[in-house]
Amino acid sequence: MKVLRGAEVFFEGALQRLDLAFDEEGIHRIGPDLDVDGEVLEAEGLVVLPGMIDAHVHFRDFHEAHKEDWETGGRAAVAGGVTTVLDMPNNDPPAVTPQILREKREKAERSPVDFGLFAGITPENLPTLGELAREPRVVGFKLYMGETTGGLVIARRSLQREAFRRVADTDKVLAVHCQRPGRPEAEDVEIALDLAVTTGAKLHLCHLRTREGVQLAYEAKRDGVDVTLETCPHYLYFTEEDARERGTLLKVNPPLASPEDRDYLWEALAEGVIDLVASDHAPHTLEEKARPYEKAPFGLPGVETTLPLLLDAVSRGRLSLQRLVEVFSQKPAERFGLRDKGRIREGWRADLMVVDLEKRLLLRREALRTKCGWSPYEGFPLRGWPVRTFVQGREVFRKSED
Ligand code: NCD
Ligand code: ZN
Repeated sequence: MKVLRGAEVFFEGALQRLDLAFDEEGIHRIGPDLDVDGEVLEAEGLVVLPGMIDAHVHFRDFHEAHKEDWETGGRAAVAGGVTTVLDMPNNDPPAVTPQILREKREKAERSPVDFGLFAGITPENLPTLGELAREPRVVGFKLYMGETTGGLVIARRSLQREAFRRVADTDKVLAVHCQRPGRPEAEDVEIALDLAVTTGAKLHLCHLRTREGVQLAYEAKRDGVDVTLETCPHYLYFTEEDARERGTLLKVNPPLASPEDRDYLWEALAEGVIDLVASDHAPHTLEEKARPYEKAPFGLPGVETTLPLLLDAVSRGRLSLQRLVEVFSQKPAERFGLRDKGRIREGWRADLMVVDLEKRLLLRREALRTKCGWSPYEGFPLRGWPVRTFVQGREVFRKSED
């Protein structure tokens, strides 16, 4: 048994000075001055949060292991306070068959981070979605309405409808990449919402980035549509002006939006209009990013920087700690059916993270764990960093003094 002592624990919606006793089986006791035998972990002056859950990562591996693999991606995740990742299927080879999902599971099970998987949808595998839904670790399906890395696109409306219908039958969540190049986001959001209404599919809208798109989705949610809204840190921190300046380094799908959209996203996040934040960790090497603009790949790394960015936003008063926990832990756990995760409770999983809200550090390339070896946030001075991470009660990360 381990006993975290002296920390402020985020428990039942607020920080409270409590001890926490846990092991690999879960959280056993939470209370003031616990009288429990075990290894004492002093955490005076620190804060304990439930482990973060990143609902949108691309950990590559297989034929793209030079960009990231489950080992490096996992180490990056836990260094960023993330204890569970949900991995996307646009790999080489794509995760669209039971066989590839099994091979991916075998790699992921050796990673320090816990995981769930999205299965991809192609015109060919549509009849097998029921079977894919029963594969262990599958939390949902991913449908790409437009071209992006990996080429998993369902462009025809009739096939999209069939995909929504078949996913609805499985009761899993359908995560949708609503973006055809050059179209306004709201147009594609509207198509996805209509399909969700007519088929009853549980819809998750990935990486929203415009006011119009978010508002349309939110109105539908208020009208009772089963939809959740995701945004990503790069839409909160960068705009199309930055993209023009920094070229391929900020080339990402969907593309960055206007400063007004960025400001609106912060409001929408704080007010609960947006349900969750996910990194869309999409690593590519600097060599690949150095290609001429048209040939450079879309995507930015982010799994290890999302929490420090959000903690910094808390320190600046842009976001409450409560909202941070909701959008990056509680909501993703609820939406994707991750049992006993997303909150600190007795009997729940000991996926925990200790943070130092006062620690100030520059985000440095040398400190990164991702195999792609860079971050668009290098040089950002951030206040608030994870210092220890536990996955199922096992310590998987401890920050060295730097
Ligand atoms: C992603 C990638 O590289 O896998 N790229 C990106 O720009 N976000 C694919 C995706 O999520 O669209
Ligand atoms: Zn993505």
